[in-house]
Formats: sequence, C-alpha cells, structure tokens
Amino acid sequence: MAKHQFVAVLDFGSQYAQLIARRIREHSVYCEIRRCDTPAAELKKKNLIGIVMTGGPRSVYADGAPEADPEILKLGVPILGICYGMQLGCKYLGAEVKPAESREYGHVSLKVNEPEKLLAGVSEETSVWMSHGDMVKELPEYFVPLASTPTCRFAAVKHKNSNFYGVQFHPEVHHTPDGRTIFRNFLYDICGAAGDWKMEDFINEEVEKLRRQIGDESCVLGLSGGVDSTVVAMLLDRAIGEKLHCIFVDNGVLRQNEAGQVVNTFKSRLRNFHFIDAADRFLDLLGGVSDQKKKRRIIGDEFIHTFMEKARELGAPHFLAQGTLYPDVIETTNPHGGPTDQIKPHHNVLVRKLVEELNVELVEPLAGLFKDEVRQVGLKLGLPRDIVMRHPFPGPGLAVRCLGEVTRERLAVLRQADAIVYEEIKKAGLYEDVWQAFAVHLPVRSVGVMGDEGTYENVIVIRVVESVDAMTADWARLPYDLLQTMSSRIINEVRGVNRVVYDISQKPPSTIEWE
Ligand code: XMP
Repeated sequence: MAKHQFVAVLDFGSQYAQLIARRIREHSVYCEIRRCDTPAAELKKKNLIGIVMTGGPRSVYADGAPEADPEILKLGVPILGICYGMQLGCKYLGAEVKPAESREYGHVSLKVNEPEKLLAGVSEETSVWMSHGDMVKELPEYFVPLASTPTCRFAAVKHKNSNFYGVQFHPEVHHTPDGRTIFRNFLYDICGAAGDWKMEDFINEEVEKLRRQIGDESCVLGLSGGVDSTVVAMLLDRAIGEKLHCIFVDNGVLRQNEAGQVVNTFKSRLRNFHFIDAADRFLDLLGGVSDQKKKRRIIGDEFIHTFMEKARELGAPHFLAQGTLYPDVIETTNPHGGPTDQIKPHHNVLVRKLVEELNVELVEPLAGLFKDEVRQVGLKLGLPRDIVMRHPFPGPGLAVRCLGEVTRERLAVLRQADAIVYEEIKKAGLYEDVWQAFAVHLPVRSVGVMGDEGTYENVIVIRVVESVDAMTADWARLPYDLLQTMSSRIINEVRGVNRVVYDISQKPPSTIEWE
C-alpha cells in the first residue's frame, strides 16, 4: 500500500476515530489510524500527505493527557486538528487553552469569517456538532481565526506560517452537514490529494499480493455465508483458483433456508466448494444445554473439529484465509492509559485455535478495509447485492438468539418468526437502512386467549437496530404499522407463539444480541 498517498489519523482516544478514517477514505484517499504518540519519523517513512489529529475525552492540561510527537509540526505536511486535536496543536504552537464557561454539546450555529481554503464552499452560517469542555481562549497574532460560534470565538483557525488547521467542532459526524466539504477541502486543496485509493486498484493489487504470498501452496477458507468470508473467497478464487478450498459447515443453527442459499450461491462460483451437513451432530451435542457460554463453546469446538477434519482430508493446506477487517486490528488509544487492543475475543479464539492445530499461516486480505469498503469490493467482484448487503450474523448462529435450551422444536419456531421479520423489513424497503433485524426466542411462556380458550405459549422478541460499527446501537424507530404486521403475522403463522414484544434498548448499556 506504500505507493498510495497516505493520511495518518492520530487517535487521542476519540469515539469518532474510525468515522474520521472512513470519511477520508470516502474521498478516495488512503488513511490509517495510528496511536497519538507515533513518532514523526515513523510517519514520514510512508507517502504521507497529511495528518488528522482526532478529538479525545481529556483536557490537554490534565495529568497524563495524551500527547503527540511535537515534531509532526515540523514535517511540513498539513495537519487538521479536531476538537482536542485542535487544542493540542494550538497549545504546541503557543496558544492558550482553557475550560469554557459552559460545556458545549450538540448542534451549534457556526459563522464563517474567513472562507479561505479549509472552509471554501461552506455556507456563511452553518450548523456544526460540538462536544467539548475546553477551548482555545487566546490566539497569538500568527493565527488566523476562520469561524466562530456564539460561545466559541475560535471555532476554526489556521496558523499563518505552518500548515496547521484546527476545528473545535466535529466535521466527521453527519450532524455537521458541511463536514464533507471541509474534509474534501483539507484533503484535495490543502494536502494535494490525488484521490488514488480506489477499490478497483485494491482488488488488482490484493490479487497480486495473494499470488505472491501463497505461491504454489493451497489455502483453506471457512465460509459463513456472510459478506466478509464471501469477498475473501472471491478474491482468492481470482488469485489462486483451484488451489483454494472453501468449507461451509451447516451447524444446525442457521436461519431459514440459509444452507440452501449459501450452497446455491457458491457451487457455481467456486471451484472447490465443500458443503458439510453437520446439523444433527451439532444439535445432538447442544441437547440439554441452557448455559450460554457452554452453548458457544460446544459450537466453537465442534466447528473446529469438523473444519479440521475436512482440511486434513484436503491434504493439510499451508494457508488459512480469514475475513478479518480493519476495525478488528486497529490499535486504538486508551485516553486513560496505554493503547487498548480491540481484537474481538470470539474472532480471536477460534482463529488462534485453528492456526495452532492446523499449523497454517494466516491470510487476511481484508485486514485494511472497513465494512463499507468490503461491500464495495464485493459489488465490484460481481457479487449479488443481496449477499453484499447482508446483515452481520453471529458465528454461533441462532443459538445466541434461542435463549435456554436449543431444541429442534424451539429452533423451528424461531426460524419462522425470524423469516417473517426479515421478509417484512425487506418488503418495507428498510433492510439496508438498519444494521440488524432479527427475532429472539425467550425461555418463558405467557398467557393469552384464543377463541374461548386460554393459552400458555411462547414469547418472541423483535430486535431491529441501527448502528455504524456495532460498538453502539440504537433501536430502529420502525413505523407502527410495520410492527403490527410483523406481530400479527408471527402470532397467526407461527404455531406456539401468542406474544410478540419489541426490544427498545440501546447499546450501551444493553447489547445487540440477547446472549
Ligand atoms: P453485541 O451483542 O455484543 O454484538 O452487541 C455486536 C455484534 O457482534 C455480533 N456478535 C457475534 N458475532 N460471534 C460472532 O461472530 C458471536 O459470538 C457474536 N456475538 C455477537 C452481533 O450480531 C453484533 O453484530
């Protein structure tokens, strides 16, 4: 990737670091998130054209507040400081930062005084998103104030002799409607970006890289039916053809008709596609088990066992491919201490076990991409939109959504209810607007009436959430009529259900899944 122009996003513990990186990449400019204290010399090695310093929750004067290497200011590349990043940059350049009289949070009206480069094309009065306690109070004369808000005199600034720009507001969030223009200005007019980060190039370069890395060896890949492993499969198919072996295991906890759909998708697209119907084996092992951790462990262990058996039968491949994405490998800054390792535990454990047991080398062709980029790559590779836009689905499948014991009968109820939620969300045209939409089967019964008879039957939960990265999520404000249709259909069509509830919990403190 070194030949692409490169923007470094220095992370000071911002909740928006990934969003900033995605905003930059949306403008066809390659960027990576780096620790805030990455030495200037290390950044200089790459084809660096600019630096963005993120916000962060601390005060720049607090003990142990995250610092940058001040040498970055001497690199000669333009720097955009956002919120904390602006305050820190201004502090390094001699300005005074102080607590504001009142914390500013939410929509604020911004007045542009100096529509030069950074704010070119931004409306004279525009709305921006603020979230800060401190702000720059006094600016030496070698700074130019570019914009202000009623309570913040220096809401956007520029240093006269260096290429440092600062904004007190957050141009990366969608609540700042001119944010896109500001990033475009910074990248193209200030950093001189060429826009050389394109998904077509990514595909060609990655295919070449995979060919070089894998050579004449063979590679095995576990397909889940999700977009990440599917895109990995298509890339590897282009790169190494018949030396790729893909294994898809029906673990008995897939959604309605899912196994059939996955088989149909791949049997014509991949040369060595191996389908293993292990549903009965998994379900027998799950019999009598209600403990969630135990259920996950059983499914994980049995998957490894099944996968390894097949991989060995295929002649012990030298490589194992994996759909790891960029957010899984970013080393982010913990503002209250050292860096935090973000690798998700369920991802990590399974892959580590497979690597050890099979004694293979890992191939992770998507480890530099965000989910939306993986989707673009999928479309460019000619995959159907239905597959590319699929919602995430947990590895342990419906076992996570069938609370209590996972029996064949309870799974049948859950599958039918889940299929109705899916169908109705699709029909309403909302599938691509929400992060996930599914049903959950609770291990409780409730009373109801059917004709003159009392009933005592199952409860189904509908969970539909909006999210950008699953780190936080909000319940989707679905139209009442749609909820009504889902509820009536589930109660009328799925035998054994007499109550449907809608989950209105946010993450945090709840989670997306129930278990
Ligand atoms: P939570 O429930 O933690 O979920 O808010 C965040 C995202 O991760 C998915 N998820 C899993 N994925 N194995 C997986 O592969 C799992 O055990 C697992 N648990 C949760 C979940 O669907 C959501 O997108």
